[in-house]
Amino acid sequence: MFGKRSFIHETAQKPTAPFLAPAPQAGQSIILAPVVAQPAPVIPARPQASVRTEEYYALKSQVFAALIEVIDVAQLGLMDPVQARAEIGVIVNEIIAAKKIVMSITEQEELLRDICNDILGYGPLEPLLARDDIADIMVNGADTVYIEVGGKVQKTDIRFRDNIQLLNICQRIVSQVGRRVDESSPICDARLPDGSRVNVIAPPLAIDGPTLTIRKFKKDKLTLDQLVKFGSITPEGAQILEIIGRVRCNVIVSGGTGSGKTTLLNCLTGYIEPGERIVTCEDAAELQLQQPHVVRLETRPPNLEGEGQITMRDLVKNCLRMRPERIIVGEVRGSEAFDLLQAMNTGHDGSMGTLHANSPREALSRIESMITMGGFSLPSKTIREMIVSSVDVIVQAARLRDGSRRITHITEVLGLEGDVPITQDLFVYDIHGEDAQGNVIGRHHSTGIGRPRFWDRARYFGEEKRLAAALDAAGEAAETAAA
Ligand SMILES: Nc1ncnc2c1ncn2[C@@H]1O[C@H](COP(=O)(O)OP(=O)(O)O)[C@@H](O)[C@H]1O
Ligand SMILES: [Mg+2]
Repeated sequence: MFGKRSFIHETAQKPTAPFLAPAPQAGQSIILAPVVAQPAPVIPARPQASVRTEEYYALKSQVFAALIEVIDVAQLGLMDPVQARAEIGVIVNEIIAAKKIVMSITEQEELLRDICNDILGYGPLEPLLARDDIADIMVNGADTVYIEVGGKVQKTDIRFRDNIQLLNICQRIVSQVGRRVDESSPICDARLPDGSRVNVIAPPLAIDGPTLTIRKFKKDKLTLDQLVKFGSITPEGAQILEIIGRVRCNVIVSGGTGSGKTTLLNCLTGYIEPGERIVTCEDAAELQLQQPHVVRLETRPPNLEGEGQITMRDLVKNCLRMRPERIIVGEVRGSEAFDLLQAMNTGHDGSMGTLHANSPREALSRIESMITMGGFSLPSKTIREMIVSSVDVIVQAARLRDGSRRITHITEVLGLEGDVPITQDLFVYDIHGEDAQGNVIGRHHSTGIGRPRFWDRARYFGEEKRLAAALDAAGEAAETAAA
């Protein structure tokens, strides 16, 4: 059998700890398949996953230890996933027979599935990675795994055998992007082959064991129509956003973690004309632009020697030399804010980015502090002038306490009055209360502004009628709702 290693070399190659995956040799891989690209070995989540007992874990490690004595994990990695699974199946059955272990067919299948997940994939994480409804997976040490589904964080009964197995899986994930996680480099960002973003922080920094956070990559990004269906925004509000995207307003999408900023930015980019040259800068490519003329750039963390880092600022600065018509920055976190504003100010109107803030006003002060902390010694008034003359619109996203996500503000930046930036809400969401199930009740409405500041821009693009109609309708819908 291909995956079987001859018994003669057994002692020489015997791994020291049963769950410690042997280090891959040059050109070899212990990872069989990208999780999503090759769905074969990925085991779909079972709705009622049986609770694993201590005996089960003991049995599994016994079979596992016997298994990795007779198979060559590296060789398995070179095989077709289906074939590899079949091979493991044959050997596991042999081991169960040889050790005279009594188990039902179902139990045997379960054991095989878990073992395959351990060897070929990401172990206990596998069923979670296969689920499309999960937004985030949060592992706080071997025994505690939380997931976020439908905006709500819930604890799962998934657990790892121990922290060693967990750290091994973390290691397997980060080694795919050429990185390493251990005591000497305990913090690491990585990405799964399907694009999901991963952060690992290991002991001693993480006190209760390796801590793994995965933001799952959604292949099918939500569209504005879907956001309307979910009640995140009204049809009229969506239309205003669509016009904002099309008429080349400079937009900042603001919101908390997981509030839907990236989703919203992606929606906005959907209305960019197909002919425009767009350059995107991201920490991990998440945006899915539909236009043909897109250049996608990604930052790079320092390598193992601490060298070779390419920051967001490096990318945005470089962008300006690439003749972009629009620059899209996935997440503005630091001094790149300055360069993005400059881009917005110098003919790359229609540029966009997201940032972390809880209100449109806070978004403005965040930009200011990012620039100040970036070491630009400019008077605060100058920075503010630059901000208000660059940013046209702030779209605020929020995750409410019931887990639902809403677009809570479409706000224009008007200018400075003295030293103070002046904003004007066009469209807002008001919270009125909560129903018996704890769902937030509220409503979206326009604020009655008939002529936003980007009116002339809308007219230039032939969108002023649609804009007027959308603003009108948003006001009327609100009045009917209130009546
Ligand atoms: N309006 C929405 N309704 C329901 N789910 C949403 C909505 N917006 C985003 N999501 C989901 O929430 C998760 C986080 O969204 P994302 O845009 O990545 O957030 P952020 O960039 O703010 O951290 C994703 O799984 C996404 O599909
Ligand atoms: Mg994001």
